[in-house]
Amino acid sequence: MADQSFVTLATNDSYVKGALVLGSSLQHHRTIKKLTVLITPQVSAPMRKVLEKVFDEILLVDVLDSGDSAHLALMKRPELGVTLTKLHCWELTQYSKCVFMDADTMVLSNIDELFEKEELSAAPDPGWPDCFNSGVFVYRPSIETYNHLLQLATEKGSFDGGDQGLLNTFFSSWATTDINKHLPFIYNLSSISLYSYLPAFKAFGSNAKVVHFLGRMKPWNYTYDSKTKSIKDDTSDPTMVHPEFLNMWWHTFITNILPLLEQHGIVKDATTGVKAEEVTEAVSHMSLSAAAPTSPPSPPPAESSEERKERWEQGQADYMGADSFDNIKKKLDTYLQ
Ligand code: UDP
Ligand code: GLC
Ligand code: MN
Repeated sequence: MADQSFVTLATNDSYVKGALVLGSSLQHHRTIKKLTVLITPQVSAPMRKVLEKVFDEILLVDVLDSGDSAHLALMKRPELGVTLTKLHCWELTQYSKCVFMDADTMVLSNIDELFEKEELSAAPDPGWPDCFNSGVFVYRPSIETYNHLLQLATEKGSFDGGDQGLLNTFFSSWATTDINKHLPFIYNLSSISLYSYLPAFKAFGSNAKVVHFLGRMKPWNYTYDSKTKSIKDDTSDPTMVHPEFLNMWWHTFITNILPLLEQHGIVKDATTGVKAEEVTEAVSHMSLSAAAPTSPPSPPPAESSEERKERWEQGQADYMGADSFDNIKKKLDTYLQ
């Protein structure tokens, strides 16, 4: 449908990689909706060209940053102030309805049925289920709503320093008013459910329609071995219980996105002498920005156990790393012995 669109956001070339995989996954599952990506000036020219191959519309917007280091520090995610840039999605009034999806999400089946939902429909946040997670939501573009959101951001700010805090304050009736606006968790499944409720994940995980790589470590921060078609098992990175979704992300990246990056000279042709697995490893660690190099994401800094405890208590568990289910189990086993 021409007047409805999926919308995502990328403020730099790393998140563009995510946006490309998301767009490609939506196409693979034959969406009939438009694909729109919001970008900011930091996104390099070659990457914009690649985005044109996947998205119907690319819109350049200004960065909106909360600059709220105090609240962002509570989440241990200082980089998320820029997520207020997401608010620009309400300006897309050429569409009657949209589904916003974070660039770190990927669809596993067609989800066009979400457009039957009303604003603001979203799935519960796994850390605080009376709040919705703003990684996937259905909304109606409106300049009036956009202005009200900006006004709220200026006057009151966001309780988490990012868009999710602000949106939950603005759409505060979500938790209690209309169950139709609660999307099932399978539309925004984050790996956090692995350790917080593993039996439910085992029972219902296979029904997932959208996977959300929520947290500091994103799929593009891992190294993929195209020979074994799996994430490289780094002994310093504690084991992952279910790497299937990460492997799926990488499979989509290698199959559908890497050839586009090669065509645009962002990555050297994998066939010219370099072994494929070396290339993919290089890609996962390099900055894809040819015009405006950005430094590759640095691994999360080592934490003291006090800091880790604090983070855990704030609901910011490093579920793919130090706080993975395997590690928790190992710890429990030592108590039980
Ligand atoms: N984002 C971005 N650049 C950034 C940080 C975030 O473009 O530096 C966008 C991107 O679409 C991302 C979304 O904002 O998916 C929310 O951030 P993130 O997914 O990192 O937050 P999380 O879901 O891990 O809390
Ligand atoms: C959340 C959401 C993300 C949002 C961030 C900042 O964890 O997953 O979409 O941008 O918080 O509010
Ligand atoms: Mn996200």
